[in-house]
Amino acid sequence: MKPTQRAHEEILKVRDEFLNKGEQVFNSLDLTAGNGHDTLFLATTVSNSSSFFPSVIAFDIQRDAILATEERLLNNGFNSENSYWKEITYIVVGENKPCCCVYLINDSHKNVRKPTTVKITPKTFHFAMFNLGYLPNADKTVITQPKTTIKALRGVLKLLVSGGIVTMVLYSGHEGGDTEREAVIKYLNKLNKKKFKVTQFKEEIERNSELWTIIKI
Ligand SMILES: C[S@@+](CC[C@H](N)C(=O)[O-])C[C@H]1O[C@@H](n2cnc3c(N)ncnc32)[C@H](O)[C@@H]1O
Repeated sequence: MKPTQRAHEEILKVRDEFLNKGEQVFNSLDLTAGNGHDTLFLATTVSNSSSFFPSVIAFDIQRDAILATEERLLNNGFNSENSYWKEITYIVVGENKPCCCVYLINDSHKNVRKPTTVKITPKTFHFAMFNLGYLPNADKTVITQPKTTIKALRGVLKLLVSGGIVTMVLYSGHEGGDTEREAVIKYLNKLNKKKFKVTQFKEEIERNSELWTIIKI
């Protein structure tokens, strides 16, 4: 199974737990938008899980990734309302009401707590996804880096609500992948176990990839 598919399953489980408790889910983060598969998943999930106006904030340092994500959203029923160089707002219209807003930010995820274009409110995010490595079918030298990934993860953990989940897909086998994998795992192993439940999913995951989840207690 693809690790991202497994990550989506874990997010849906957490979503169901919130809904069963009578809580709605609101905001989510995609720290590596890439070709937009995860952004689309998050946008669809929050749209279907909240009667408020949830948002997805997606980051990528490559403009091509932002454009690919934009195209995927447009091809899947999202309407672009505003379009700026750095940020694009999407509104899904369902049953005559807007039900989701997606911001695409062409910037490093290391700025997750202080993006220049969107106001971020701490402790309002239910889901966050990292899918590390390079953009498929693009320049394989543009990869996520241990230092910025960990800075982004540290920021994301502050933005998460209690019960919220971060999924991290790590890859080895490409240049830089093993170093980043080791750095991330070292950081995860040091997290306070009273505050965060860290799980590694080893079974059924494609070779050279790993899925880790962090749930805020
Ligand atoms: C494996 S791809 C992500 C795939 C994506 N989640 C999808 O659903 O298609 C990794 C992405 O991380 C992006 N990236 C690398 N360094 C980054 C950084 N510092 N901040 C944000 N994105 C970064 C790359 O440009 C690439 O598009």
